[in-house]
Parts: sequence; C-alpha cells; structure tokens
Amino acid sequence: MRPLIAGNWKMNTLRSEATALVAGLMEQRAERDPGCDMLVCPPFVTLRPVAEVIEGSPIALGAQDCHAEGSGAHTGDISAAMLADAGCKCVIVGHSERRADHRESDSLVVSKAIVAHENDLTAVICVGETLAQRESEETLSIVETQVSQSVPDGATAENTVVAYEPVWAIGTGLTPTIDQISEVHDYMRALLVARFPDRAEFRLLYGGSMNPGNAREILAVDNVNGGLVGGASLKVEDFWAICTSV
Ligand code: PGA
Repeated sequence: MRPLIAGNWKMNTLRSEATALVAGLMEQRAERDPGCDMLVCPPFVTLRPVAEVIEGSPIALGAQDCHAEGSGAHTGDISAAMLADAGCKCVIVGHSERRADHRESDSLVVSKAIVAHENDLTAVICVGETLAQRESEETLSIVETQVSQSVPDGATAENTVVAYEPVWAIGTGLTPTIDQISEVHDYMRALLVARFPDRAEFRLLYGGSMNPGNAREILAVDNVNGGLVGGASLKVEDFWAICTSV
C-alpha cells in the first residue's frame, strides 16, 4: 500500500506563505517521486490559492474540517460540497483540537465523515488518547470507542484514512515509543479487519510530533501507512524530508 504523508497546516500561513510553501514542495516533487502520496491541508481561505498552484501536480489538496450537514443556516461553517468544489480530495475530521476546542463528539465526527463521502472526499478520521487516559491505561479502549464510533459503515480504503494521534504528542515534541505506536496501529488494524473483513486495507497514519529525525523509524512500523504532520509540515525541507523517509 502506498503511504500517505499529509500536512496539517492548522491555523498557519497567510496566502503568500501558503503558496510559497506549496511551490517549494512542487519543485522537490518535480525532481522525484518520494514513494508516497502527498497531501496538504491549508486553512479554508488559502485552499483556492493553493489549489491554483498545485493544479495538475501529484500533490493533493485537503481541508481541516467540514460541517456535518450538506448546506443551510450555519453561519461561519463550510460544507463538504464547498471543499470538493474548491478542489479538495480529502478532509480531516475529528482532529483532537476540534474535539477539544469545539466539543466535537464521535457522533458528530461520523456525520462529518459521511457527508465527506457523499461529496467524494476521502475522510481522514483522527483518534487518540489524552495523557491522563494513557496513564490510566485506557489507550486501547479509547481508540476502540473512537474508531468504532467515528468511522462510518460506508468506509472503504478509498474514502477513509484513519490517523492515530495521541493528544499528548501533538505539538509537544513528545512521541510514543515505537512499541506503543505499533501496539495501537496493530489494534486499529484488527478492529477494522473485524468490522470490514472484505475491505480493511485502510491507510493508518501516525501523527504527533513527527519530524525528519523520527519519521523513518515511525514509518517503518508495521501498519503505519503514513503520517499526519503538523508543525513540520510548515517547512518545505522538513515536510519533504519526512516524505522521503517512507
Ligand atoms: P504536530 O501536529 O505534528 O505539530 O504534533 C500533528 C497534528 O496535529 O496533526
């Protein structure tokens, strides 16, 4: 399975920074295929400028969230149809920052994944435990609940990617041990195989303080099929170094 390296730019980059970042990635990508699919997820307002730069290139565009409904009176929100219309192929749903900042529940996240699928977008569904949950040995049960409740029944390997992002590893410079990553990814694979026996080839991404120094080791773990990269996706050299680590 071809790995996916996704950059989650979060609430960073003005238009000129966003277009420069993606132009730099395109220069690298034009020279060689790093052996993975590349996805960038800029803020909503820079989706179109970035789409114009990457048009026709192998770099795919994604968004960081969408509303759970198709359209209507939801001031300030963005629909999956709008994202598809803007050139997106993917949308991240259920990121822990959205679960925390906007109190998003698994039932909301699954609705977002469904509306993404209805609009031919691949949903990158995020799960992961907090530090308190890890310390009280609840990691696997939290991951089980989030995977079973946030991944819709219509999920396929084409329309769904699952990202394991321990909340305590995001933006902190801390990462789980390789054994801890391996344990969770094997567990997620087993959950998906049990639920979707005929279509369990989902790409499973690791996210949380991935950087050029640790990417190679993490990406070599069985059942880690790529990465969801925050901070290190904001620098061409760092993101490219992670892409070439697969
Ligand atoms: P980080 O963020 O790489 O900055 O830790 C990852 C994410 O939140 O997707």
